[in-house]
Amino acid sequence: MKHTWWKESVIYQIYPRSFMDSNGDGIGDLKGITSRLDYLKELGIDVIWLSPVYQSPNDDNGYDISDYQAIMEEFGTMEDFDEMLAEAHKRGIRIVMDLVVNHTSDEHRWFVESRKKEDNPYHDYYIWREGKDGNQPPNNWGGSFGGSAWQYDEERGMYYLHLFSKKQPDLNWDNPAVRKEVFDMMTWWCEKGIDGFRMDVISMISKTKEMPDGEVHDLYGDPGPYCVNGPNIHTYLREMNEKVLSKYDLITVGETPGVTPELAKLYAGEDTHELNMVFQFDHVGGNGKYGKWTDEKVSLTFLKGILSKWQTELYGTAWNSLYWDNHDQPRAVSRFGNDSPKYREASAKMLATCLHMMQGTPYIYQGEELGMTNYPFQTPADFRDIESINAYKEWCESGLVSHELFWPCITNISRDNARTPVQWDDSENAGFTTGTPWIQVNPNYKEINAKAEVADPNSVFHYYRKLIALRKKYPVVVYGKYELLLPEDEELFVYTRTCEDEKLLVVCSFTEQERTIELPEEFIGAECIISNMDNSYEQKEVTLKPYEAFVLYRK
Ligand code: GLC
Ligand code: CA
Repeated sequence: MKHTWWKESVIYQIYPRSFMDSNGDGIGDLKGITSRLDYLKELGIDVIWLSPVYQSPNDDNGYDISDYQAIMEEFGTMEDFDEMLAEAHKRGIRIVMDLVVNHTSDEHRWFVESRKKEDNPYHDYYIWREGKDGNQPPNNWGGSFGGSAWQYDEERGMYYLHLFSKKQPDLNWDNPAVRKEVFDMMTWWCEKGIDGFRMDVISMISKTKEMPDGEVHDLYGDPGPYCVNGPNIHTYLREMNEKVLSKYDLITVGETPGVTPELAKLYAGEDTHELNMVFQFDHVGGNGKYGKWTDEKVSLTFLKGILSKWQTELYGTAWNSLYWDNHDQPRAVSRFGNDSPKYREASAKMLATCLHMMQGTPYIYQGEELGMTNYPFQTPADFRDIESINAYKEWCESGLVSHELFWPCITNISRDNARTPVQWDDSENAGFTTGTPWIQVNPNYKEINAKAEVADPNSVFHYYRKLIALRKKYPVVVYGKYELLLPEDEELFVYTRTCEDEKLLVVCSFTEQERTIELPEEFIGAECIISNMDNSYEQKEVTLKPYEAFVLYRK
């Protein structure tokens, strides 16, 4: 297995709108990020993944881009960007940009041209089709944010495909001119000195030519088989690699819904010349009561099965990315841990241990290092996210499901849980802004905030700092082979990592009960390199406190 800097890095995701506001307009911005770089340096992360900062009408908070080479006005200027990049580099922190090229905004110049009736150079930049039976969409596909995946355009008199909102038309990657535009734009950013790309829904850029009705799940037909991992996806990524990525020392991660370990070996194989790693979704998706919406927790055996499958199957052939949450997911501690005041800290540290000791590059989503929790939504008017707003209309206001049944599900999963402002201190608006925040601040900011966490050596923040430091100290944390122990245990997640001459035992309790375990012989008397409890691990038998986690190390 090749040793590379990006396998040894820890990445911190910033969702700029919610990170830090520098000018009191209630919206996070680039100067705000620059002002907090020292905090990130103290945490010890190596790389920032910046969610989109490009010009955008914000139908989907920047994931609908109208100019790839301009900065969103609300976030600042290109000078602010350059300053942020330079200040990050000064501190040894790299910056990864979000590359959103499955679609653009409908306000992008290419689309404005493309929808014109007359034949113009952009007519084939998007996916246009004639309607069916006079005035019906070309097929039954549904978009990810509700409704049909097709929108009729009066101007052109045809339908265009949008797998997300109707303000996010899908680009036609089969057109070589589109690929050239994208690769040139990427080169422009690389020449500016950025350090990599996180590629938004990159597994969806290649579509089949034929577009038949999809199998109906829930409300609409599923475009998946025709749009996800499509026929030319690997050709296009190799072309991107050859024309852009291979020319720079970058870190690249693909957001790849629908990926399997087999496919990950192509997308992110050691020698396949596509990407460095991909985000898989098996542990965060797909088991909802109503579409993706659910109030149920997954079982620990399910979680262990999935994560272990990825650990084992990619070993030596491709590289994992590790995450519990991001800007599209609820807060990790609320979803997989226990966010009650009694267990929040312990379970947040336990989850961090469980993830950071696995093989792969770990991602920390802003606020996760503080143990930030889901938001206590009161009414649908609290939602800011297009996905939640549309889902509430589509499932509830339509009468399909009652508010009583749907409410616990949507509030449990809503992306807005992750998008409330970072809680910096206990002053008004959690120190995020001096104005009115664009989205509510979680009322628990008086107890949970960065200032308090940094001041307390036993905080979740300092625990993350220690985990990151361990990765730098022990090669086995990065390169060791993973093996799951106690696969059937519903409460304990236990595994080992092994290199030639180093071995780790990782024990994580996912329960609020006490549990007793017997250490494997070879770890009795081994050194404890981190623990979230005050406990002794010298005897064969260890009684674990609720949500306890520890790691033993031996040569
Ligand atoms: C990705 C992004 C998500 C966005 C969608 C459409 O899944 O992470 O936030 O809404 O793509 O761009
Ligand atoms: Ca601002």
